[in-house]
Amino acid sequence: MTLIGTLALGRYEVLERRASGTQGELFVGCDIENGNKVAIKFQPPNIFESADDYAELSAELAQEAANGKRLLGVPGIPEVLGTGYHRNRYCIVMEFVDGVLLGDIVPDARPLKDAATTAAIICQLCEILHEVHRRRLVHRDVKPENIMLAPDGRLWLLDFGFAVEPGVPTPWGSGTAGYAPPEQHDANKDGVTPRADIYALGCILLEMTVMHLPYAGADERPTPEYPVLPPNVLPLVPTPFRSLALRMVDRRPENRPDAREVFSTLRPLLLTVGTHPPAKPLDPDPTEPYLYGVPSM
Ligand SMILES: Nc1ncnc2c1ncn2[C@@H]1O[C@H](COP(=O)(O)OP(=O)(O)O)[C@@H](O)[C@H]1O
Ligand SMILES: [Mg+2]
Repeated sequence: MTLIGTLALGRYEVLERRASGTQGELFVGCDIENGNKVAIKFQPPNIFESADDYAELSAELAQEAANGKRLLGVPGIPEVLGTGYHRNRYCIVMEFVDGVLLGDIVPDARPLKDAATTAAIICQLCEILHEVHRRRLVHRDVKPENIMLAPDGRLWLLDFGFAVEPGVPTPWGSGTAGYAPPEQHDANKDGVTPRADIYALGCILLEMTVMHLPYAGADERPTPEYPVLPPNVLPLVPTPFRSLALRMVDRRPENRPDAREVFSTLRPLLLTVGTHPPAKPLDPDPTEPYLYGVPSM
């Protein structure tokens, strides 16, 4: 049964299907009270699941909504506007981000040669993650497919479906191969810390600069026999990022810097008001928020 044209939660008209993933289907909608565009994430339709499994899936989405509500007001995270059931499917209505996925545009622009652009992407994500971590959540799935770049150059972090509190035992592994740190691969009685997200951010940094994920890439677990990068690739990591990137993807979480330290290490590379405009390898341009505004950290 199609959802298009129906009214969810008495207020949001479902307009168009955008994406589907394991946890849900993403629709664009319209808030009929104010005309704003919204994003509506629906639990997938019930095709094969038992009633128990189906209820479990809606509980996962409800947890994602609870995480979103805890992050209310954080710049760079879509606001949760409403939650509930529509046509028997749990849904989360969110602020719509009119942007492009980092995962869709970075592959064509790699390797990013412009240090200010690379630094701006990592620093914007540090500003968001710093606030996520301050509110006692670890995202656990930071990757280019969960990051959007808006026309004004601002980054948005999506998909808090895997987020957990630090230090709470995690009964199974989670995240995305290639970006998930070793401590996230299996059940972990000690849980994870915010440094799990720093590992993923380090992966993004390496991917953008040398087109290489650390250790065995996305194919295998980051087991100790792999070097962090092949010997011919390591020297290609641009000097201003090299030692920082290696610390970010250290196998041991306690050796990784936190979001604030990553930000302050890269801050000198950011373009600020009055500095020379960069070569603009990306459109939209993620250096713009720092060119025309003041970093918040
Ligand atoms: N608030 C939003 N505004 C615009 N598009 C969104 C929004 N949230 C998600 N999307 C789009 O839907 C896709 C899937 O959303 P996501 O939350 O990552 O779900 P999944 O759990 O299936 O990965 C994203 O990659 C993005 O393209
Ligand atoms: Mg996702």
